[in-house]
This record gives sequence, C-alpha cells and structure tokens, in this order.
Amino acid sequence: MATWNFEHLKHHILICNGSTCMRNGAEEITQSIRKEISQRELDNMIHTTRTKCNGRCQDTCVVVQYPEGRWYKQFQPDDAPAFVKSLYEGVSYEPKVSHFYGTEKFERTNNTVEGVLKK
Ligand code: FES
Repeated sequence: MATWNFEHLKHHILICNGSTCMRNGAEEITQSIRKEISQRELDNMIHTTRTKCNGRCQDTCVVVQYPEGRWYKQFQPDDAPAFVKSLYEGVSYEPKVSHFYGTEKFERTNNTVEGVLKK
C-alpha cells in the first residue's frame, strides 16, 4: 500500500478498467499512459487511478481527466503520448472527446451516443 504526497499534483486521470473497456484494450491504455508519465518524470504532477465502469460503455475505452473534467472516448494506446504532453504543456487534447463541465453541461462530439437519463 502506498500513501503518496500530492502537494505537486496537477492532474488526476481516471482510466476505466470496467469489463467493457478491459475487453477493448484498457490494460494496454493504462500501461501506455503510465509509461508516458514515467518516462517524462511527471509522476508527481500526474496521478492515475484505475476505475470500475464509468457508465459510458458505448464510448469505450473511457479516460477522464481532472480538474478540467474532460471525458475522452475511444481512447487508444497510441493517444497516450499526445495526451500526456497536452497535460504538461497546458493545452487541451481534443480528438474523440466528450466534455463534462461541472454539473450543468455535457457537450458531446458528433457521433457520441446520448445515453439514458438516470431516474
Ligand atoms: S466499462 Fe468503461 S465505461 Fe463501462
């Protein structure tokens, strides 16, 4: 078990490791993002967490980045270098993205399934 010191943390990446995402390459994506962070020595700045299903299985594989609250769909291992680079350079990484802003608005790119409203 680890207890990390997060005083230099700037980004938290949630990598969906739910069953649908795992069937579609989530382990490879997890490893490629973590490798990219490690190679760039950004471990103090970017923390990753594997999650269970994030409720957007149509978008598999799903990666979520905070504090901006960007939801990425159809993430591929090859996306990891540009994605991690965008974090330390402070620019947004836009392809294949669904955005979630706070609790008010969820913007979808074209061809993103709307999904079912919770009751
Ligand atoms: S398993 Fe990843 S969103 Fe459902």
